[in-house]
Amino acid sequence: MRFSENLISWYNVSKRDLPWRKTQDPYKIWLSEIILQQTKVSQGMPYYLKFIKHFPNILALANSNEDHVLKLWQGLGYYSRARNLHFTAKFIRDNYNGIFPNNYKEILALKGVGLYTAAAISSFSFNLSYPVVDGNVIRVLSRVFGIESEFDTGPGFKKFYHLAREMLPEYDYATHNQAIMEFGALQCKPKLPLCSSCCFNHNCFALHADMVSSLPKKKKKLKIKKRFIHYLIINNNNEVFLKKKGQGIWSGLYQFPFLEFEKNISNDNVIVSKDWVDFFKDSSYAISSVSSSFIHKLTHQKLRVVFWQIKSENIKLNNYKKFQTNEISKLPVSKLIDNYLMLNNII
Ligand code: ADE
Repeated sequence: MRFSENLISWYNVSKRDLPWRKTQDPYKIWLSEIILQQTKVSQGMPYYLKFIKHFPNILALANSNEDHVLKLWQGLGYYSRARNLHFTAKFIRDNYNGIFPNNYKEILALKGVGLYTAAAISSFSFNLSYPVVDGNVIRVLSRVFGIESEFDTGPGFKKFYHLAREMLPEYDYATHNQAIMEFGALQCKPKLPLCSSCCFNHNCFALHADMVSSLPKKKKKLKIKKRFIHYLIINNNNEVFLKKKGQGIWSGLYQFPFLEFEKNISNDNVIVSKDWVDFFKDSSYAISSVSSSFIHKLTHQKLRVVFWQIKSENIKLNNYKKFQTNEISKLPVSKLIDNYLMLNNII
């Protein structure tokens, strides 16, 4: 219990003033937690404010359309979060009369809500006794208590979960959970943690064992896949082709037809490649411009992208829809495509 008391005393003087901490409305808490997954507070804040403005309650979100939700999400990444958010808002409208469920089991069953988010909503909105266990919490617990288990394995995660549950105080679960995450974000940071001013520095395992930089431990190394993509912006009688993407990193967003290669090949080789020849097989076309390559880094992928602007009067692309260029700015597209279109005055 001393751990929690110490933590909450620190939190009471050090916490940031964040809008989602001034409400117990489960809709707003849920929205903020989905936005903040894998996202820093500084990056997520404008999106939270924008979403609350456009969709002040769950019915407003449920009654919007997916493209509008994705357009507002544009630039935040991990777009399945936005699609699940919209799906779940409709689900709560249709199955719970628009009232957010108030118990852990039903909250955890919502699409896009895992152990962490269910615990956050349950504790922040309903002060239920569930521990939040995210990257911040794992870092704090592994360092203070010297837990060397790999957190990205089943048994390792369980250990952290049980310890986090043991550390909960007797009553104020909401404040404890906010405090431990805030402590991880501001004090016990991944790099250059503030150990000399830390309220646990007398009995922090990692500090005394000189293991601050080696805890927490992870099993899997992050593998980054390199991809080589050529987007084809095909102008057909002043309209361009786009398709809503089904699977993968940008699912739900609109994108141009593209060719993907295993390795980096020159533009001269692209236009004689089998993929290119098959793509344009019966069409006449003229290349108006070719961009230099853009590097776009995502957590698990590094993309090298070239944009080709091509005119073709007779091309037919069955799976694509044609849009006027002035319609494109309303569609959700990846940040990469948005930047290119804006830089080239296409939208
Ligand atoms: N990251 C995830 N949830 C958070 C919260 N409620 N406050 C600050 N940062 C967070």
